[in-house]
Amino acid sequence: MRRLWTALSVGLFAVGGASLALTVYLWVGDWPQQSRELVDHLRSVARNTGAPPQPLLQNARERERVSLDGTWQAVIDPYARGELGGLAARALEPTSPSDLAEFSFANGLTLEVPGDWNTQDPRLVFYQGVVWYKRLYDWQPRVGERVFLHFGAANYRASIYLNGLLVGEHEGGFTPFNFDVSEGLHAGENLLVVMVDNRRGADDVPTPMTDWHNYGGLTREVSVLRVPEVFVRSWQIGLSADGSRIEGWVEPVGIEVGAAVELAVPELGIEESFAVGTDGRAVVSVEALPERWSPENPKLYDVELRAGGDRVRDRIGFRTIAVEGGEILLNGEPIFLRGISIHEERPLGGGRIHSEAQAATTLGWAQELGANFVRLAHYPHDEFMPRLADRMGLLVWEEIPVYWQIDFENPTTRLRAERQLGELIERDRNRASVILWSLANETPEGEARDAFLQALADLARAEDPTRLVTAALLTGTDALTGFLFWGYLPAVAGMDTTPWVFDVQDPLAEMVDVPALNEYFGWYYSGALAMLLPWSSHHMRRVMLDGMESIEIRTPLGKPLIVSEFGAGAKAGMHAPAGELAVYTEEYQALVYERQLAMLAKQPQLRGISPWILKDFRAPLRMYQGVQDYWNRKGLVSERGEKKLAFHVLRDRYIADWPH
Ligand code: GCU
Repeated sequence: MRRLWTALSVGLFAVGGASLALTVYLWVGDWPQQSRELVDHLRSVARNTGAPPQPLLQNARERERVSLDGTWQAVIDPYARGELGGLAARALEPTSPSDLAEFSFANGLTLEVPGDWNTQDPRLVFYQGVVWYKRLYDWQPRVGERVFLHFGAANYRASIYLNGLLVGEHEGGFTPFNFDVSEGLHAGENLLVVMVDNRRGADDVPTPMTDWHNYGGLTREVSVLRVPEVFVRSWQIGLSADGSRIEGWVEPVGIEVGAAVELAVPELGIEESFAVGTDGRAVVSVEALPERWSPENPKLYDVELRAGGDRVRDRIGFRTIAVEGGEILLNGEPIFLRGISIHEERPLGGGRIHSEAQAATTLGWAQELGANFVRLAHYPHDEFMPRLADRMGLLVWEEIPVYWQIDFENPTTRLRAERQLGELIERDRNRASVILWSLANETPEGEARDAFLQALADLARAEDPTRLVTAALLTGTDALTGFLFWGYLPAVAGMDTTPWVFDVQDPLAEMVDVPALNEYFGWYYSGALAMLLPWSSHHMRRVMLDGMESIEIRTPLGKPLIVSEFGAGAKAGMHAPAGELAVYTEEYQALVYERQLAMLAKQPQLRGISPWILKDFRAPLRMYQGVQDYWNRKGLVSERGEKKLAFHVLRDRYIADWPH
């Protein structure tokens, strides 16, 4: 007996010791390889095979849905430990005073969803890491329905746990995703836990190096969508290039080839059936002469799509967009894009836009400027923006965050970029306002980068042949050195070297329909060079501003050119006489705008501009204390909604139909 007891106690001690050791490992740190494998096994226990997101349900806000927006419990998890052993996923809470807990949702942080976490808690302003979100909700299932958990976006990675089990994961901070939870939800109370990690690696899209604040969290709406077994998942309905037909496709789920799908456009007297083809889509084509959508007349039609017992509505504008010679043609007529660049930040005080009202204020400022075009930089904005632009009559450039130096050699990185582009196109393929898909911003030239972007251009055209492809080029060393050494610098030394030729040679210009150029004459070049050369920054700026009108921007192939960025910084309320050329004053910013607009009006290939930028935005790269304070000050409006002098310089020209 004694021996048995001894053996038992030794055994218990061994087990206890092992689990204690494991607990220590879990919470503290490194151990030999075999323990690491044990921990990986523990991880897998909690992370059963999470599925990738299912194909996106379009127009989620039109669907019957249960909103999960509101106050969620949350835990900041700086060392990403909550995943181990399913601690967080099961939202374990201590149930007795003897329980040893080191993770608990109760009594702690709460976060509003939708919303970035950075502006909700002082500990999270610059936080890069994991936050766990938790909420419970009651569910009453219905027979014969499918149920999807839908997220407008989560930045940057999200793992979704339902009732303790991993449902799936998504990466990419700005596009919607949904998971089929028809089987995972049960009647009564359900536990939803979401891990969001806003860290990006060098192989992500974007990388950690961005000139915008990395707002993390469940930044957009979360909802549960209810659809019948047979439902319409996706569609693309538009006007044929010759303007004589409404055409496209409708993709139902759950019905067989040959079954009927219906398209109704009541205002045009259209009620037609089309058969589902072997590719799972019903091709749609019907003669029609709808009123054309345009900025002057943003006409939208109610469209209804039906399959089986399902019917889903959309509001669609019918227009054509094309490039012909050096012109951008909207409904067959040349158009000039008088635009402005926009980051997705709330109009007052920063933080991600997460309501239609905030989006409406922001786009209202663009309209007040006299703009007919907005560049939604540098990532997909909330769906509010293109839908509002549809209604307000603003043309839209949307882009994915292939920004600066990306790991172009890495196939996984390319897959990430392709997935984000595909998700953006899938969400907005029916928005008349969207005319341009942008592949990249200021990516350094090189073979791998060219192959990477060519693949994205091919994908965009395959997914949506009805829109134009663009990208903001990097000026390229040849263009810049030619401009500097044969134009600007000799002028700084007192020689007459006009015109100053700026010859854009980026191979990207051949891949896109509309090449775009970011240039900062009057802001960066003079200032940077003044630190290297014997002349003062005042002299360098004076020569640049006086000579700017003699700049000739040339792009290859005679394509229409958009100058997608120019500008200057100014802190609202900072003033000095314009002649002092005092940077960060409103007068200097206004002077740069005047000189830029005078120069740009003379560029023969120019067909649009989107100056940088509508509003000051949070940017950790901008550390000039007392002036920037982690804000990029190139906005025409401050983060408190104050319009700077340059706002009126640009507005005066736009409402006078500049550059005509
Ligand atoms: C770059 C870049 C922007 C950045 C801007 C600036 O061209 O595209 O993301 O914010 O210039 O320097 O302010």
